[in-house]
Amino acid sequence: MNELSSFWSGWVIVLTLGSVFGSYWLLASVRKGHKPSNTEKVETTGHVYDGIEELDNPLPRWWYWKFVILVVFSLVYLALYPGLGNFKGLLGWTQINQYEREVAKAEQEFGPIFAKYASTDIETLSQDDQAMRLGQRLYSNNCAICHGSAATGGYGFPNLTDNDWLYGGAAHEIKTTILDGRVAAMPAWGASLGENGIHKVAQYVMDLSGQATDTSVLDEGKQLFTTNCVACHGQDGKGNKLFGAPNLTDNIWLYGGTEQNIKQTLRNGRAGQMPAWKEILGEDKVHIVSAYVYSLSNQE
Ligand code: HEC
Ligand code: HEC
Repeated sequence: MNELSSFWSGWVIVLTLGSVFGSYWLLASVRKGHKPSNTEKVETTGHVYDGIEELDNPLPRWWYWKFVILVVFSLVYLALYPGLGNFKGLLGWTQINQYEREVAKAEQEFGPIFAKYASTDIETLSQDDQAMRLGQRLYSNNCAICHGSAATGGYGFPNLTDNDWLYGGAAHEIKTTILDGRVAAMPAWGASLGENGIHKVAQYVMDLSGQATDTSVLDEGKQLFTTNCVACHGQDGKGNKLFGAPNLTDNIWLYGGTEQNIKQTLRNGRAGQMPAWKEILGEDKVHIVSAYVYSLSNQE
């Protein structure tokens, strides 16, 4: 919490204590000393309406003490917990340390379960129903926002169920992706190849998956591809998981496979980023969610 300046802190303290003591003063000042007996004439407040007089009985005793207890409670509370300007309270309680205590308690409770799963290899774990329910929950909370609730991905976000991998689908490759994150670097070619060059190489890329529309430029396109693209996408265009360079021959597209999509990819480049989860989830939870991702494309 931000500190208040000492003026505003003082102001809050004066207002808060002022209203607590003010309430008590109000209560005490209107209190009548004794309860009148039944025979004694009770004073009226002087209000009469339609023949009904308003009597001036004292507050019932329980009512009075309820207010006194309330005042005492609020003073004790304000002494123990933060509430008076910058005064931290005698207990030193904060929302943050309470949250941290609860997290530590949960770690203590669930830590051993996660640790047990963490020592099971990913392939075996992916067959364990209970672990996979946990994995699905971790997935829904952390991954579905980008990869979709069914993990089928979307524009720029890979499908995790289709056995087509940018960075490899072996258990340890999936885990490395999730632990450390991935940053893809597809350079922009607009400036160096020009619109004409983009057209030619785009036709060649389309031809790799059997959908070229302008076959007259394929030879030149292939030449451009060999010069500029094979370092990452490979001689045959099948990609390279070291760079996350996609297979261009399988008609599965991260950014769409129409001529327009491909030309846009080539003109401007692409830089997909998968966040790293090691710090956020910790290694044990990453292990479980890795097994869940593994299970999606390795169903019996
Ligand atoms: C430095 C390595 C590198 C070079 C060189 C490179 N690419 Fe890429 N390319 C990538 C990476 C990495 C991606 C994935 C980008 C992403 O995931 O955001 C990619 C993505 C693509 C895609 C999008 C595929 C999809 O599924 O949507 C196309 C098309 C493509 N590259 C074609 C080419 C062509 C054509 C060339 C040569 C003119 C080329 N690339 C040169 C690394 C490279
Ligand atoms: C902010 C969006 C975002 C979130 C959240 C996210 N991812 Fe990703 N993920 C991506 C992107 C983008 C890529 C592709 C990177 C690239 O273009 O090279 C990716 C790639 C991957 C890959 C590699 C796929 C392949 O073909 O090799 C896996 C596996 C993966 N994510 C799993 C997860 C898991 C599990 C979680 C949750 C713990 C998660 N992702 C959360 C954006 C996200």
